Amino acid sequence: MNEKTALIAGSSGLVGNELLHIILNSKEYEKVYSLVRRPLGVEHPKLVEVICDFDNLNAVEKFFSVDDVYCCLGTTIKKAKTKDAMYKIDVEYPIAIAKLAHSKGANHFLLISSMSANSNSRIWYSKMKGELEEKLQTTPYNSISILRPSLLLGNRKEFRLGEKFASNIFYGLSFLLKDSWKSKFGIEAKTVAEAMHKIAKVGIKGTTIYPSNKIAEIARNS
Ligand SMILES: NC(=O)c1ccc[n+]([C@@H]2O[C@H](COP(=O)([O-])OP(=O)(O)OC[C@H]3O[C@@H](n4cnc5c(N)ncnc54)[C@H](OP(=O)(O)O)[C@@H]3O)[C@@H](O)[C@H]2O)c1
Repeated sequence: MNEKTALIAGSSGLVGNELLHIILNSKEYEKVYSLVRRPLGVEHPKLVEVICDFDNLNAVEKFFSVDDVYCCLGTTIKKAKTKDAMYKIDVEYPIAIAKLAHSKGANHFLLISSMSANSNSRIWYSKMKGELEEKLQTTPYNSISILRPSLLLGNRKEFRLGEKFASNIFYGLSFLLKDSWKSKFGIEAKTVAEAMHKIAKVGIKGTTIYPSNKIAEIARNS
C-alpha cells in the first residue's frame, strides 16, 4: 500500500495546506514532495520540502518522478498586481509543472480550478481558468482531475475583503439552502482537499471535471 509518491504545489495556501496534511497522514504515499518558495515549518518523515524558484523548475526536476501531482497554486490580482503576473502563476506555472511531471512519468494530475472556468468567457478570471484547463488537457496524462470549487471557505491568514464579505453572506444565509445546494455557493477548503485526495485514490482514466456539489459529495462519502 505504502508505495506511491506525490508532488504538491501550493501547500502554503488555503486548500494546499489542508491537502498537505491529509496526504502526509495517508497510508498510500511513502513520500510527498512539496514545491514551495520558502520553508513551511512542517516536519514529517514522509515530507521532502523542495524550495525552488518556480521560474526555474528544471533545477529541481529530480523531484518530479512521482505518481500523483496535486496543484493548488493561484493568486489574486491584488497580490499579482498585473494580469500578466497573475496568468503566470495561475496558468503558466501549473502547466510547466504538469509537463515536467508527465515527462518524468507521473500518472495523475489533480488541479484546483474554479467554478466559473470557461475559456469563452468575457470575464478575464473565468477565461484564464478555462484556458488553464484546456492547456492542461493537452498533456497526455492517464488521469486528469479538475476540481471546480465555488467560494473557498476557511481560516485564511491573509485578509481578502471581497471573499470575507461573500463568506459572511454565505454563513448568514446558508441555513436557507438545502445541503445539496450549499456547496454551489461556498465550500470549505478542507472539504475540497479531502475530495481531492479521495479522487487521487480512485484515479479515473481520462479527464474528469468535478463541480462544487460533486466535490462536497465525494468528501462526504467514503
Ligand atoms: N478563493 C476562492 O474563493 C477560490 C474559489 C475557487 C477557486 N479558487 C482557486 O483555487 C486555487 C487554490 O486557492 P487557495 O485560496 O487555496 O490559494 P491560496 O491560499 O491563495 O494559495 C495559493 C498558493 O499559490 C502559491 N503561490 C502564489 N504565488 C506564487 C508564486 N509567484 N510562486 C510560487 N507559488 C506561488 C502560494 O505560495 P506562497 O505562500 O509562497 O505565496 C500558495 O501556496 C487557486 O487557483 C484559486 O484561484 C479560489
